[in-house]
Amino acid sequence: MVLVNSTPMLKEARKSGYGIVAFNVHSLDMLYSVAEAAAELDAPLIVQTTVGTVRNLGPENIVAAAKAASEEYKIPMALHLDHCTDYDVLIKCIRAGYTSVMIDASMHEFDENVRRTNQVMDVAKFLDVNVEAELGKVGGVEDDIVVDEADAQKAVPSECVKFIELTGVPTLAPAIGTAHGIYSGDPDIDFERIEKIANLVDVPLVLHGGSAIPDEDVRRCVSLGMSKMNVSTELKNAYSQAIKEHFEDKPNALDPRQYLTKAKQAAKDLAQSKIKLVGCQGKASEVQALYGNEYKDGALIG
Ligand code: 13P
Repeated sequence: MVLVNSTPMLKEARKSGYGIVAFNVHSLDMLYSVAEAAAELDAPLIVQTTVGTVRNLGPENIVAAAKAASEEYKIPMALHLDHCTDYDVLIKCIRAGYTSVMIDASMHEFDENVRRTNQVMDVAKFLDVNVEAELGKVGGVEDDIVVDEADAQKAVPSECVKFIELTGVPTLAPAIGTAHGIYSGDPDIDFERIEKIANLVDVPLVLHGGSAIPDEDVRRCVSLGMSKMNVSTELKNAYSQAIKEHFEDKPNALDPRQYLTKAKQAAKDLAQSKIKLVGCQGKASEVQALYGNEYKDGALIG
């Protein structure tokens, strides 16, 4: 088993009306936790890292761990680079074996967003790598990308159509009212806008800011065509909280295996609740069949 391009699994999810969770992992431990979680539920999986995590762990180490996990757990698994604004980092990750990348040029004007997305499409389409782009601006904090609430902007449905026409991008993240991080109140999700966009474009849509959205809202987003849900904050919090509690209980603890075991279990439990929520439990075999023998081996360019 090797890492797969996420486009086919997301297209299938959109067609069949379920979602696939993309978990942001910040350590290799977290990567194995979510893989174990998905395997136990027989679910397809997207593991993703931010640019900060790529810098911290190294793309080759992340790819090696993701391949080892997909090998061990035998689930269709894609490795995605989240919110990348830097073309060089993006190419480095593709070269290392990432099977999906997000070019985030949402802070630029529409035409520049198109240009930057096309620059990535030019490479990715020959290498069997999924590409995600963002329209509008998702609020909140993700790594070193900070968008104040006042600057957040929802995606315009007619622009989504034009953007797909001009780029051919296979997955689109339209801003629809969610934000990265934990909300002070309930998120103000614009379901009507999701419906309009989903009626106009048939690519799988991506729900950013997947943490702390009420369950019924997540189900509604997924049923409307948001086929990939990104979850970062809640996973990171569950993992870290378990470590904090361990040290509160045992301030002199020094054995990482003890506190990391608890952290991994907490991350796994959280991951399983999200996988069940979007309805992809039990879909791994059918998703795997989409790829046949054409699993890529991550050895891409030269
Ligand atoms: P949360 O941190 O709100 O889960 O958002 C994750 C995300 O959208 C990553 O791109």
